[in-house]
Amino acid sequence: MKLKTLLAAAALTAFATNALAAPIVIKFSHVVAQNTPKGQAADYFKKIAEQRTKGAVKVEVYPNSQLYKDKEEMEALQLGAVQMLAPSLAKFGPLGVKDFEVFDLPFIFDSYAELHKVTQGPIGAKLLKKLEPKGILGLAYWDNGFKVMSANNPLKSVDDFKGQKMRIQSSKVLESQMRSVGAIPQTMAFSEVYQALQTGVVNGTENPPSNLYTQKMHEVQKYVTLSDHGYLGYAVIVNKKFWEGLPKDIRATLEACMKDATKFANDVAKKDNDEALAAVKKSGRSQFVTLTAQEKAAWKKAMDKAHKENMSRIGAETVKEVYKETGYKAN
Ligand code: LMR
Repeated sequence: MKLKTLLAAAALTAFATNALAAPIVIKFSHVVAQNTPKGQAADYFKKIAEQRTKGAVKVEVYPNSQLYKDKEEMEALQLGAVQMLAPSLAKFGPLGVKDFEVFDLPFIFDSYAELHKVTQGPIGAKLLKKLEPKGILGLAYWDNGFKVMSANNPLKSVDDFKGQKMRIQSSKVLESQMRSVGAIPQTMAFSEVYQALQTGVVNGTENPPSNLYTQKMHEVQKYVTLSDHGYLGYAVIVNKKFWEGLPKDIRATLEACMKDATKFANDVAKKDNDEALAAVKKSGRSQFVTLTAQEKAAWKKAMDKAHKENMSRIGAETVKEVYKETGYKAN
C-alpha cells in the first residue's frame, strides 16, 4: 500500500474510533432565522462538519435566539456553555473589543468588494486577534449586507429623523449615527425588535433586508428607505480553550469546513438580501423610499459626525487603515 493510502486509512480509523466514542458537541447559537445568510451558513457548517468527521463531531445549531439573546450568548461562549457563535460585528463593544465598531461607521463601504478588502485582508486578521485575550478565537467573517432604514414615516431628508426612536444594536457608533441625524437611539436585543416596533416602544430601525423580512419587521413598519447607509456582517467565534483542546485532526477538519462555510455564506448573502427586498416589495406591507443623490449626500454629511466622535474609541490607526482600503472621504 502506498504511504498516502495508508495515512488516509489511518485517518479514517481515527475518525471511526472517535465516532464510536461520544461525539464532540459544538453548540452553535445565533439570533436570526434559519433562512438568512447566517442561518443557512450555520446549517451548512453543521452538515459538512458532521459528514467530514464521520460523526465524531455533532453540531447543534440553535437559531432565532432560542437558546440565548445577544448579550447572553457572548457570556455563554466565554463560560463554555456554547462553543460557537456568529454575532454581528456591532456587538463586540460590550465585550471590551471596540475596534470592530469600525464596520458600523456609516457609508464606510460602498460595496462588498470594498468590505472584502478589509475582512479578507490583514486588517480583518488583526481585528480577530484582539479577541484572544477575552478567551475567544475568531475563525472567519461572514457577510450579511447593507442596511435599509425603516420607520412609520418616510425617512428621506435628515430632518425626517428628528425625534424618531430608533432601535440599534449595542454599538456606540450606531448610537452616534442615530444622534447625528436627530434620532433617539435605543439599544435592544434583536429578539425584542419586532414587538418593540409593533407596540410603538420604538418607531423604526435599521437592518439588511434579509433580517427585516425574516423577522416580519416590514409588517409593522410603514416605510423602508433603500439607503445602504451602513453594513452588517458577522465574525464567527469560538471558545478558545475548547477549540485548542480539540484533537488536532478534528480541528484541522473543522477549520477546512469553516473555510467552505464562509464561502457558502458570502456566496448567498447578496442573493438572499436581494430576494428579501423583492419579497418585502411584493408583500405590499411597507412602501419603499428612495433617496436622490443629494439626499444621500446629506445623510452622509450629517452621519460623518459618527466617524469623528468615535475615532479614538475605535482606534484612529484602524479607522485610517480602513479608509485607505475603501477610499472613504467625508463630503
Ligand atoms: C441585529 O441585532 O439587528 C443583528 O445583529 C441580528 C443579526 O445577527 O443579524
